[in-house]
Amino acid sequence: MLTTKARGLADLPPVQSDSLLNLIALCNADPRPEKIDVGVGVFRDAEGRTPILKVMKDAEQILHDTQETKAYLGSAGDKRFAELLRPILLGEHADDDRILGVQTPGGCGALRLGFELIATANPNARVLMGTPSWPNHAPIVEAVRLERVDYPYYERAQAVIRFEDMIAALGNGEAGDVALLHGCCHNPTGADLSEEQWRQVRDVVVERGLIPLVDIAYQGFGRGLDEDAYGVRLMLASCDEVIVAQSCDKNFSCYRDRVGSLFLKTASPADSAKAMAHVFQRSREMWSMPPDHGAACARIILDDPDLRDRWLVELAGMRDRINAVRQRLAEAHPRLAFIGQHFGMFSMLPLSKEQVLKLRDDHAIYMADSGRFNVVGMSDAQIGRFTAAVVEALEA
Ligand SMILES: Cc1ncc(COP(=O)(O)O)c(C=O)c1O
Repeated sequence: MLTTKARGLADLPPVQSDSLLNLIALCNADPRPEKIDVGVGVFRDAEGRTPILKVMKDAEQILHDTQETKAYLGSAGDKRFAELLRPILLGEHADDDRILGVQTPGGCGALRLGFELIATANPNARVLMGTPSWPNHAPIVEAVRLERVDYPYYERAQAVIRFEDMIAALGNGEAGDVALLHGCCHNPTGADLSEEQWRQVRDVVVERGLIPLVDIAYQGFGRGLDEDAYGVRLMLASCDEVIVAQSCDKNFSCYRDRVGSLFLKTASPADSAKAMAHVFQRSREMWSMPPDHGAACARIILDDPDLRDRWLVELAGMRDRINAVRQRLAEAHPRLAFIGQHFGMFSMLPLSKEQVLKLRDDHAIYMADSGRFNVVGMSDAQIGRFTAAVVEALEA
C-alpha cells in the first residue's frame, strides 16, 4: 500500500508572474479614458495605434494568393528568409561560409536556442549579463541551467553607462564564458554603446576568450539598419565564435507572428555545420519547427525590390517617430534631456516605485516599476500631459 501521497500538479509552487504582463492587465482594466500606456513594448504611431505595415498587408495577400501547400518545412523553417536576412544583419560578412543562420520563433526562440547550444557545448560556461537587462534574459539563462554573472551596465540616477565597471567585470570572464550584449536600442535603458565603446568591449572579449552572444531585437529602430548592426559585425570580424539572436518582430511590426533568426559563427564551416545540427536537434525537441506565416511574408518583402524599398520607408517612418518623440521629451525639461541621447523605444526615468505608482493613481500613466517607459507608447496628443506629470513627479 502506498504510504506517501504522490506529488501532483496541485503541489506546484506559485509562479512569480511577469510584472510587465500584470501591468498590461492593470492598464486594460483602468476605465479612465485619458490613460497612457507606456509599459507595453510595441511601437505606436502618432495616433497611438500599432498598425500592420502596409507592405506586410500586401505580402500577406501575395502569400494568400500564391501559397500552394502548408506541408512541413522542417526545423530550418524558411531557408530563403534566413538567406535574405544575411546582408541586412551581417553586412560585409554576408558571404562568410563560417556563419550559418536559421529561422526561429522570434528573438526569444533564438535566444533560447543560442543558450541551449552553449549549455550543450559547455555546461560550465557562465553567462555575463548586464544589469539592468531585458527581464526575460535571466529566466532564459536559468532555464538552460547556465550560471549567470551580472555585470554593471547602467546608472539610472545619472543616466550613464557604467562603462569602466562593465569592462572590468567582463575582464574577469574566463575563456568560454558568454558575454550577453544588446546589439542596439538597449532594453530597458535605451543607452547604447558608442562605436569606440564597442571596440573596447571587443578587445576585452577577444583578450579573455569570451563568446559574444549579441541580442539584436530592434535593428533599424535606432540610427539605421547598418549603424544598428555595428556591434554584431564588429564581433563577427574579431571573434572566431559568435552567436547572434535576431528578431524581425519589431522592425516588421509583426510581433505576434514570431519572426526571428539565430546566426552562429565558428572558426570553420565544418564546425558551424556541426553546431547547426545541434541547433536543429534542440529546436526539434522544443517546437519542432518555427511558425511559417510571418517569416514567409518577410521573405516575400525582402525578395522583391519594390516591396523591400517600401519596407525600408515604413521602417524609417517608425524610427523617425521614435527619435522625434525623444527630441520632444528631451526639450521639454532639462531633467529629461538624457532621453534625446538614447535609442530605440525605451528609456528609464529615475523614479522610485512609489512615484511610479503615484503616476498610475493620479494620472493614469502606466510604466514599469523600474521607471522604464516606451517613448512611443503614447500618442502625440498625450505627450504634453505625460511630460508635465513626469516632471512634477521628478521634482516632488
Ligand atoms: C532585448 C530583447 N531581446 C529579445 C526580445 C524578444 O523578441 P521577440 O518578441 O521577437 O521574441 C525582446 C522583446 O521585447 C527584447 O526586448
